[in-house]
Amino acid sequence: MKIAVIGRGNVGGGLADLWERAGHELRRIGREGGDVSAAEAVVLAVPGGAIAEALDNVQGIEGKTVIDATNLWGVDRPPGFSSNAEYVKSRTNGPTAKSFNLNFASLYDRIGEASSTPSNLWTGDERARQVVEQLNRDAGYEPVYAGPLENAAAQESFLKLMFGISQGGLGQFLYRFAPPDRL
Ligand SMILES: NC(=O)c1ccc[n+]([C@@H]2O[C@H](COP(=O)([O-])OP(=O)(O)OC[C@H]3O[C@@H](n4cnc5c(N)ncnc54)[C@H](OP(=O)(O)O)[C@@H]3O)[C@@H](O)[C@H]2O)c1
Repeated sequence: MKIAVIGRGNVGGGLADLWERAGHELRRIGREGGDVSAAEAVVLAVPGGAIAEALDNVQGIEGKTVIDATNLWGVDRPPGFSSNAEYVKSRTNGPTAKSFNLNFASLYDRIGEASSTPSNLWTGDERARQVVEQLNRDAGYEPVYAGPLENAAAQESFLKLMFGISQGGLGQFLYRFAPPDRL
């Protein structure tokens, strides 16, 4: 698949490496922007406050299947939208999915060490299903559908719970009974 990834950081760069290893053709786009008209899938992996600027700087994204991996860390939702993902769809008017926002990029290189395939949530449009599920599997995850794009707001909000879990409480419980080298 021809994939354009916007954002070359932990998430964008890391996922691009995984997909390249799986045989996909990657175009990596940074702040300078670029043309994504040849892409069959576009993945957005920029800071939550940079989405509008990042979209302004790409050409050919209208109607494309987009996977939004962004989070709302330290920034408000785009005015008038309940999620980043719905804002993205309003800009592209194509099939849109939210996925990869709830996996720690620092663990990408350890996906293969898991005793069973890790699950990964996605919400979004049916027309994005084939692309988002294939790209989940080709990154090493088992995709789990969590409802239509209206549910992307809940998926974005879940990040706070994930941090809560990983910083204490259940995180310590899990660590004691299932240390990372056994997960
Ligand atoms: N880190 C994680 O584990 C994780 C997991 C899931 C989701 N996320 C979310 O995924 C997104 C990316 O996180 P990250 O950890 O990959 O951040 P990061 O390492 O800081 O990378 C962000 C990338 O976006 C680029 N960028 C900034 N403004 C841009 C623009 N206007 N146009 C194009 N590219 C732009 C940055 O370019 P420069 O290098 O030039 O600054 C950088 O390469 C965030 O929304 C984050 O909340 C993070």
